[in-house]
Amino acid sequence: MAYNITLIGCGKMGGAMMLSWLSHDLVQHINVIDPTPLNNELMSDSRINYAAKYDGGKITSDILILAVKPQILEKASKEIANNLSNDTALLSIAAGQSISTLENIFGSDKAIIRTMPNTPASIGKGISVSVANQNVTDRQKDTAQKLLNASGESLWIEDEGLIDCVTALSGSGPAYIFYLIEALAKAGEKTGLSNEMSVKLARQTVIGSAALAEYDAGTSAATLRKNVTSPNGTTQAALDVLMDGRFQSILDEALSAAKNRAKELNQ
Ligand SMILES: NC(=O)c1ccc[n+]([C@@H]2O[C@H](COP(=O)([O-])OP(=O)(O)OC[C@H]3O[C@@H](n4cnc5c(N)ncnc54)[C@H](OP(=O)(O)O)[C@@H]3O)[C@@H](O)[C@H]2O)c1
Repeated sequence: MAYNITLIGCGKMGGAMMLSWLSHDLVQHINVIDPTPLNNELMSDSRINYAAKYDGGKITSDILILAVKPQILEKASKEIANNLSNDTALLSIAAGQSISTLENIFGSDKAIIRTMPNTPASIGKGISVSVANQNVTDRQKDTAQKLLNASGESLWIEDEGLIDCVTALSGSGPAYIFYLIEALAKAGEKTGLSNEMSVKLARQTVIGSAALAEYDAGTSAATLRKNVTSPNGTTQAALDVLMDGRFQSILDEALSAAKNRAKELNQ
């Protein structure tokens, strides 16, 4: 099945999602609107109709994907909202922009889906969580699901209140893991390793551990951890420090800060 799609905002996330649809042959035709698309070289693809600015024409695609920054969402959507067919589902990935905000812009009679993806979507390893308003039909949900599955796993929730929590965990989460690599590398240097060696070891350790977790998907993280921890060994010595509660409280605090910021963005 291939779809007619309109994509507003072809930056890091919008561009990554578009690449996944193209590579999974999910695109019949895609209208891309963005003043400076990230995948500029792709715009000559025969399936893509590119415009730097919205031309005011009626939008009758199966689905309209809104992937602009939250701060400019209202401005970027105003004119489009007046020309959106009632049969077109709208899917927004803007952090902190609620379904009621989107209904205020596009109309409460529109089929609206709010989705929180994450950047591993660019290599098909993302995870997204979506919530739909009451106007979204099963067919529109199925279209959204197929497009979202092209960039990884996708889940649906009923309670929109949980989206800010999802944003704090998986939406912003890749940055935490990259920071973990940086912090591990710094700590490795302090043990006596060179910067180059420490950076290499930290990065590959995270890559390898994530790959093991993926390979052993049925095994809990706690069991994977226990499997590499011999009693009274070196790993146990480090985990006694890491698991004394401070690491958990820092993560609690970080996710709470991200969740509060997502709430602020919606005001
Ligand atoms: N990146 C993430 O990890 C992530 C994760 C989850 C959700 N999101 C959400 O995804 C959305 C996009 O984020 P991003 O990181 O992809 O941002 P981005 O890379 O800045 O992409 C946004 C794109 O929209 C373009 N744009 C600006 N004004 C426009 C307009 N009026 N019409 C059409 N396009 C316009 C921008 O062009 P200019 O550069 O010229 O302004 C840019 O190319 C945000 O709402 C964010 O909350 C992002």
